[in-house]
Amino acid sequence: MQAQGKKALITGASSGIGRTLSIELARAGYNICAVARNKERLESLKKDLEEFSVQVELIELDLSNERDFAQFETMSVDVLIHCAGIGGLSTIKEMDIEEWEKVQRVNVTAPVFLTKTLLPSMQSGSHIIFLGSIAAKQAFPSWGAYCSSKASLASIAAVLREELREQGVKVTLLQPGATATPFWEQVEGDWDQNRMVQTQSIARLIVSILSCDSQSSVDELNILPAAGIL
Ligand SMILES: NC(=O)c1ccc[n+]([C@@H]2O[C@H](COP(=O)([O-])OP(=O)(O)OC[C@H]3O[C@@H](n4cnc5c(N)ncnc54)[C@H](OP(=O)(O)O)[C@@H]3O)[C@@H](O)[C@H]2O)c1
Repeated sequence: MQAQGKKALITGASSGIGRTLSIELARAGYNICAVARNKERLESLKKDLEEFSVQVELIELDLSNERDFAQFETMSVDVLIHCAGIGGLSTIKEMDIEEWEKVQRVNVTAPVFLTKTLLPSMQSGSHIIFLGSIAAKQAFPSWGAYCSSKASLASIAAVLREELREQGVKVTLLQPGATATPFWEQVEGDWDQNRMVQTQSIARLIVSILSCDSQSSVDELNILPAAGIL
């Protein structure tokens, strides 16, 4: 895909992978629509995007409320990247229904229904990317809600890919391992972010995936810390 004049919508653009990705997509020439809840962090991203000659739109939105997705019905995007995601740290024994539902709403329900809302306007050659996680395949104690949400997302991506083949819309599932972002601030423990995947690597990988010729599709990719699963 040629980036110039194309529009990329990135959820979770206010922090971590989504933030770095928004910058790299703007550097490549994509117009950016950045979605997240935190206004200050979105404004700070906008400032960092000023050096690129691209259009920037900020949308403050809580993705756990899909009734608010109606505002996207009239929007047309070429690239849709589902980056927003949350953890949840309880064993199954401790899990309460509120925590379970919150994780599923942000990590699974929102990507499904945001995709549904934007799909009618997506042309052949468009691309949808899901930020899954290696936690879809690897069990981590206390991460049950998160692991299961990412396994669901992997399944959704695989189904959607088959549903959209004829329409010429590509679907990629990217599954990182531990990545150096503020995500880890809420996780107890002494985490060495220098040993983790760097957001820049993921962002550059996605820009490269988007530049594949129309005959080729990167369906799934894992990117893991070189030091192994942390
Ligand atoms: N970091 C890792 O080790 C790692 C590994 C594998 C996969 N991933 C996945 O990569 C994605 C990005 O993670 P990250 O590490 O970059 O996390 P992060 O730094 O914590 O960023 C999460 C983003 O999601 C947004 N978000 C969370 N809840 C939201 C809601 N209800 N409505 C709208 N936006 C919401 C946050 O924005 P606001 O707070 O402004 O709303 C923020 O921009 C996630 O899907 C995560 O599961 C991360």
